[in-house]
Amino acid sequence: MKHGNGMLLQLALLISLSLAGVVVGGSAPTSTHLRFYMHDLVTPYPGAPATAVRVARGVTPLPTAPNLRFGDMFVIDDLLTEGPDAASRALGRAQGSYVFASQTELAPLLCVNMVLTAGPHNGSTVAVLGRDLILDKVDVRELPVVGGTGTLRGVTGMASSGPTP
Ligand SMILES: *[C@@H]1O[C@H](CO)[C@@H](O)[C@H](O)[C@H]1NC(C)=O
Repeated sequence: MKHGNGMLLQLALLISLSLAGVVVGGSAPTSTHLRFYMHDLVTPYPGAPATAVRVARGVTPLPTAPNLRFGDMFVIDDLLTEGPDAASRALGRAQGSYVFASQTELAPLLCVNMVLTAGPHNGSTVAVLGRDLILDKVDVRELPVVGGTGTLRGVTGMASSGPTP
């Protein structure tokens, strides 16, 4: 992930998310772990259309990323893959939005459904809702998993999000 040159989000933002959660089924809760990469493409390039569109423009530029403003909102339909390469096996889409909800920090509120279209959870979704402090120096950033459908019905837990290894 490149930053510091005002180009953040002009590039593909590749984030690995690993979800650890507890699925509350009919009987005893079971634990499940999923890992995938989310390709957030704001600027299209040949052969790769944008998967994030800005639908609202704020007023106040953010101190650490003046090309972004407090109040900017993006709607996303990002590819989820098994590996960091966009050409690796597709596992689904991340559909939802993020809003730059801090006036001083690069701290979008991510509100997204992970719609799984392959693998053992094909047809299921996981809902993630939380503050994603994208320039934080920590190795992983925690985002709450607030629910799921299908085989992941009732899932709760944590999504750890971080830049590509
Ligand atoms: C996922 O499920 C849908 C609906 O059942 C099916 O059409 C599709 O082939 C499945 N995809 C994979 C990769 O298994």
